[in-house]
Amino acid sequence: MNGIVARVFRQETIDGLAEWSSVPVINALSDLFHPCQALADMQTIRERFGELQGLKLAFIGDGNNVAHSLMLSALRLGMDFSLGCPQGYSPNPDIVAQAEGLAAVSGAALSIVHDPAEAVRGAHTVYTDVWASMGQEQESAIRRRDFREYQVDDALFALARPDAVFMHCLPAKRGEEVSDSVMECARSVVFDQAENRLHAQKALLLTML
Ligand code: NVA
Repeated sequence: MNGIVARVFRQETIDGLAEWSSVPVINALSDLFHPCQALADMQTIRERFGELQGLKLAFIGDGNNVAHSLMLSALRLGMDFSLGCPQGYSPNPDIVAQAEGLAAVSGAALSIVHDPAEAVRGAHTVYTDVWASMGQEQESAIRRRDFREYQVDDALFALARPDAVFMHCLPAKRGEEVSDSVMECARSVVFDQAENRLHAQKALLLTML
């Protein structure tokens, strides 16, 4: 059995592989999507709460690859999804349109706002990712400025439900998108997520091959 697992910069590379390959192609991260991470994340959330439908997932930060895949996964599975991002860092409009279609079917709610507190209120999970993704390192300084109000710290996390969990796809930059205290708190499930990457991806390979 053969397959291709590709971690790339541009989604077009994945699309080209999928078009021309005769074996399954798995996107292990592109500039637009991170579906393998989202699979492990949904597994992690279900382990914690016993179900997915009816929960609220809040993503704070860049409307990036991780946000896109979580948005599509959550809305498909009946979870409300809220994104709190700075102006200029909104998600891709085509992916938002796709997400709205999924929300119309599942009945889940999608909200994209620029106020992190509004996004987090009532959430079961608060998720963040690095401010500068791979390939954006030269934008780090400007992004640190643009995202400075978007750190998941104790005050922001406290606006979520009392049993909310903190999530991050890792690697994290402590002191930037997340404070040390939230990263290390008892409700941080970042290492469960990391472990579940193994289990979810084994299941994915089994399904595809
Ligand atoms: N948004 C990040 C995710 C890393 C797992 C990046 O693309 O670098």
